[in-house]
Amino acid sequence: MPLKPSPILPENLKLLKDFIYRESGIVVDDDKHYLLEARLLPVAERHRFRSVNDLCNLIRGTGYVPGVRREIIEAMTTHETLFFREQVQYDALRTTVLPELLEGRKHAKMLNFWSAAASSGQEAYSLAMLLREMNLEDWKCSILATDLSEKILSRAREGKYMAIEVDRGLPKSYLSKYFEASGADWQISADIRKMVTFQAQDLRGSTRHLGPFDVVFCRNVLIYFDQETCRRILASIRSTMRQGGYLLLSAAENPAGLTSEFERIAHGKAVFYRLR
Ligand SMILES: C[S@@+](CC[C@H](N)C(=O)[O-])C[C@H]1O[C@@H](n2cnc3c(N)ncnc32)[C@H](O)[C@@H]1O
Repeated sequence: MPLKPSPILPENLKLLKDFIYRESGIVVDDDKHYLLEARLLPVAERHRFRSVNDLCNLIRGTGYVPGVRREIIEAMTTHETLFFREQVQYDALRTTVLPELLEGRKHAKMLNFWSAAASSGQEAYSLAMLLREMNLEDWKCSILATDLSEKILSRAREGKYMAIEVDRGLPKSYLSKYFEASGADWQISADIRKMVTFQAQDLRGSTRHLGPFDVVFCRNVLIYFDQETCRRILASIRSTMRQGGYLLLSAAENPAGLTSEFERIAHGKAVFYRLR
């Protein structure tokens, strides 16, 4: 029988918020407490706890159930994404930013990209399709896609999407060109999949070894962190980037006041941050 929601005790709210912050950097604001109940109740149910309060005893260390701590973090991460999200950025990449980078790197013929909070892979695969459309056969383009969540990364590696997901943002012609039907779903072609390497990475950890990158996408993840965490992550991302490289944030994110190492560059409605 499904569990009935019961209020989370104040001491458990604090315990959960501290745990989630420690494990992921995600800040659960006071007006988002309902999310703890809504997302953790199914975890409690799955593991036969009577309530989210009972689940908290596990975090306190009174008991051990394999994988539950990870499941709590998985449940509290938001994986919302879509193909060609913020289309204006992909347009500006194609028409302005990539031509500039291609010119600058024409002797090395190599470009490295990083999708730093890749979720189920739509961001990295959108970029892969865009590069494929640009006919860069004699270039070596690598795309690294990372995320905190192993679970979402295994979905991303598989590259299988529901009809509703390919209806969001993907140009119709790309569906027939780059996807194969797989039952009721669509799987991105092996050819595009092999352009992207997925691996787990907590953005708060050291990332220097991942680079050097020419373009870093770090979109719709800084919004979940506090200022100090954002500052550290931006410094860490900066250490992975080639001079003159570009950082893409979402329209809701802004590095002002967190770092002065990037120059804001607007191409029409698209904003990029170039490493000085
Ligand atoms: C809303 S999605 C963003 C997806 C994509 N970048 C976009 O803009 O469409 C946020 C992703 O950040 C990941 N995330 C949360 N905390 C993280 C951390 N500390 N390190 C790395 N990834 C994290 C989540 O697992 C989630 O997949």
